Amino acid sequence: VPSKEPVAVGDVLVFATGPKANQEITLDDLRAAQREPIPFIIAFPKSPQNVVKKDLITNTIMVILADPARMSPETRQHASPEGVLAYSAVCKHLGCTVSQWQNGIWRCPCHGGEYDIYNQAKVVGGPVPKPVPQLPVKVEGGRVVVAGEFTDKPGADV
Ligand code: FES
Repeated sequence: VPSKEPVAVGDVLVFATGPKANQEITLDDLRAAQREPIPFIIAFPKSPQNVVKKDLITNTIMVILADPARMSPETRQHASPEGVLAYSAVCKHLGCTVSQWQNGIWRCPCHGGEYDIYNQAKVVGGPVPKPVPQLPVKVEGGRVVVAGEFTDKPGADV
């Protein structure tokens, strides 16, 4: 089933939910998100054949425009020069979507797992065993394009 294929290099990120569901996420969308209480967007990958791969849990991705100057070198190397960063949004604890933002920290609503987006999603709170993997991305024609494999296996660590 094409919609269950894992994310691959060359896929484009699209909105997972909301009024723009299935639409390509642009740099302008990410700039607009920066002014919202939730400054990131939850995304799915869309294949070059225009299939939104929304039926595989580990394809749930968070994407954010962040300040490259605050990123660790390892984090920055998988971000775009503009500062677009992406991570697996599937919590390493029990697999909830990491969907909250509190005092500059990316947070899981289920048991309060917290990740540092500037430092390879280092765990900074909660019962989470390890960081979520980063997804290398680049910006092409204003769209967010997957530029590499996840840095580690996505999904709950069970
Ligand atoms: Fe995320 Fe438990 S599933 S903290």
